Amino acid sequence: MMRLRDCHNFSDFRRMAQQRLPGPIFNYIDGAADDEVTYRRNTESFERCDLVPNVLRGVSEIDMSVTVMGQKLAMPVYCSPTALQRLFHHQGERAVAKASAKFGTMFGVSSLGTVSLEEARKISSSPQVYQFYFHKDRGLNRAMMQRAKAVGVEVMMLTVDSITGGNRERDKRTGFAIPFKLSLAGMLQFALKPGWAINYFTHEGFELPQLDEHVDMGGGTMSISRYFTEMLDPSMTWDDVAEMVKLWGGPFCLKGVMSVEDAKRAVEIGCSGIVLSNHGGRQLDGSRAAFDQLAEIVDAVGDRIDVIMDGGVQRGTHVLKALSLGAKAVGVGRYYLFPLAAAGQPGVERALEQMRVEIERGMKLMGCSSIEQLSRTNLRFR
Ligand code: LAC
Repeated sequence: MMRLRDCHNFSDFRRMAQQRLPGPIFNYIDGAADDEVTYRRNTESFERCDLVPNVLRGVSEIDMSVTVMGQKLAMPVYCSPTALQRLFHHQGERAVAKASAKFGTMFGVSSLGTVSLEEARKISSSPQVYQFYFHKDRGLNRAMMQRAKAVGVEVMMLTVDSITGGNRERDKRTGFAIPFKLSLAGMLQFALKPGWAINYFTHEGFELPQLDEHVDMGGGTMSISRYFTEMLDPSMTWDDVAEMVKLWGGPFCLKGVMSVEDAKRAVEIGCSGIVLSNHGGRQLDGSRAAFDQLAEIVDAVGDRIDVIMDGGVQRGTHVLKALSLGAKAVGVGRYYLFPLAAAGQPGVERALEQMRVEIERGMKLMGCSSIEQLSRTNLRFR
C-alpha cells in the first residue's frame, strides 16, 4: 500500500486513491464520457505547447497572487466544485475548504456537495464559489441563490455544459449511483476495500444538503445521469441566465463555455467570468480541450471578462502555460480529489503545496517574478 509521502505527482495520488477506493467510486472520479478522448486530450494539449524561458532577471521574490472575479487569490489555482466528496473520504468538502483556506485560494461547493454551503462557509474564510445547475423547478433555482446569498458565498458558478448527462460507460458497468445500487461486480469491488467501508460507515450518513429539501431521493436511487436528465431544465436559454445574473447582483460565472460566440453573450448578459471547460471530459466526448481554445477566447473577450480554464491540469507548468495565454486563473478537479480520497485533508494540502512549489519553481526558471510577466512571447506551439 502506498503512503502519502510516496506521492510526488498526480499519478502517484491517483494510484494511491485507486488502492484505497472501491472500484466503482474510483472509476466515477477517474472516468469520463464515451471513449474518453477528450479526457486524454485535456492533458495532452499542454504537451503540444513549449515554454521558452528568459534568464538572468532577478527572481528571488516570487508573487503568484492573482485577482479573479474580484477575489484575491494567493495562488492562481483553485479547487473547482465537484460532487459527492464525502463518498471519497469522510472529511469530504470540509478537507477541501480547510486546505484551500490554508493556501489562500478559492474553492467550490457543488449542488451535489455532501457538506452544506453554510458549514463550508464557517470552515473557510477563502472565497467560496457555489456551483449550481439550472433545475426545471424555477422556485428551486431562486431558493438556491437566496440561500447562497444569505451564507455569504462570493461567486455564483452556473454549470452550462450539463444540460443532459454525459455517457459515463464506466458507471454503467459498475452500477454507480447514489445511494448505492451496485451491480454484482460492483458489490464485489466494495468487498475488496474494507478500509474504505469502515471509514465510510463509521461516519455520518450520506446526504446532499443543498438538494435534500427539494429532491425526494426516497428509497430509490439517483444516478448522476438521471439527475441531469430528470431534474435539470434542457430548455434553459440565455434569457433565463440573464435573469439569474441580475437576481444575484454579484460575481457570476458560467462554467462550460467553449465558443467565442457564447463568450461574447456571457459578456453581454453581465457575467464577470467564464470557465472554459469540458467538464473533465465527462460530458461531450470529442469536445475541444479548454487549453486549445483559450487564445481564441481571450482575444475575443479577455479585456471584458475574466477568462478561466480547467481540464487536465496536473502540473505547475500547465498552469503557467494557461496563464501565459491569458487565463486569469486555473481550476483543478481530479488533481485534488485523488489526494482527498488517498489521505483526506493532509492529502489535499500536500497536492496544493506541490502545485504551489511547482508554480514557484516554474516561474523562477521562466524568469518571471509575477504573473503579469507571463506572456505569449514565452510560448511556442508544435
Ligand atoms: C460529474 C458531475 C456531477 O461530473 O459534475 O459527475
